[in-house]
Amino acid sequence: MSTVWITGGGSGIGKALALSFCSDGWDVVISGRDQHRLQKVCKLSPQIRWIVCDIKNEDEVLSAQSKIGPIDLAVLNAGDYRPGLTNACSQKEHRQIFEVNYFGTLNCIQAVLPKMKRNGGKIAVVGSLAGYIGLPNASAYGPSKAALISLCESLRAELQDSLVTVQLINPGFVKSALTDKNNFTMPNLLSAEQAAIEIRHGLEGDKFEISIPKIFVWRMKFLQMIPYQFYFYLARKMLKQI
Ligand SMILES: NC(=O)c1ccc[n+]([C@@H]2O[C@H](COP(=O)([O-])OP(=O)(O)OC[C@H]3O[C@@H](n4cnc5c(N)ncnc54)[C@H](OP(=O)(O)O)[C@@H]3O)[C@@H](O)[C@H]2O)c1
Repeated sequence: MSTVWITGGGSGIGKALALSFCSDGWDVVISGRDQHRLQKVCKLSPQIRWIVCDIKNEDEVLSAQSKIGPIDLAVLNAGDYRPGLTNACSQKEHRQIFEVNYFGTLNCIQAVLPKMKRNGGKIAVVGSLAGYIGLPNASAYGPSKAALISLCESLRAELQDSLVTVQLINPGFVKSALTDKNNFTMPNLLSAEQAAIEIRHGLEGDKFEISIPKIFVWRMKFLQMIPYQFYFYLARKMLKQI
């Protein structure tokens, strides 16, 4: 039986992925900071194990990965989000989001990589389409995801001739506790279950980027490609809708 470790598996996309993997017979380990939330998910299937682990804490991450044993697939999904204008978020909040999304994920990668290099395996990092371009109202979150995208590109390039596959999962808007913080209409919103189906499909292959949903991906790629002058014209309109 293959083992998958899902960080942030107690809610949202991580929980939906955990349930999807366990229904396909995987040995599933979920982690997060909230023990009760993790236990509630485990009650849904005896195939799911839980470990309390704050990904910001290197020792907790190392201890979690040694408790799990051999990991075939690490889905590094845990993340934090805070909407708001750049000055509305404190320095502390900007740093906190980077600590979780970037450095926390990096802690997990560094913990699993040595064994995976020997035994083989896959690391799938959950980034975001918000990392494609600097969006208004997202300056605490977007840069952390842009940094993750860059990290995954470096890793995939470095590990091409190794036994480790690196994949990057870039979702658009998915209904979860994280997006419940948004007070605007989110285009092309997916449920966590819909997102999990599409992500699982991508994880079956080894294409570098799994970006969903396609219609929103193309909208974001368009914003990335157009001249800045045109982008900022559209961004002004976006800001008025937020
Ligand atoms: N929802 C979207 O529209 C969307 C779009 C693009 C990307 N994403 C990304 O998808 C991932 C999952 O988000 P979601 O939408 O499913 O939201 P969510 O339900 O809020 O899930 C976030 C998970 O991360 C865990 N977490 C947060 N800080 C942590 C820490 N320091 N250590 C360990 N675990 C931590 C939380 O568990 P605990 O509180 O128990 O620690 C929670 O289970 C995130 O990386 C997010 O940035 C989401």
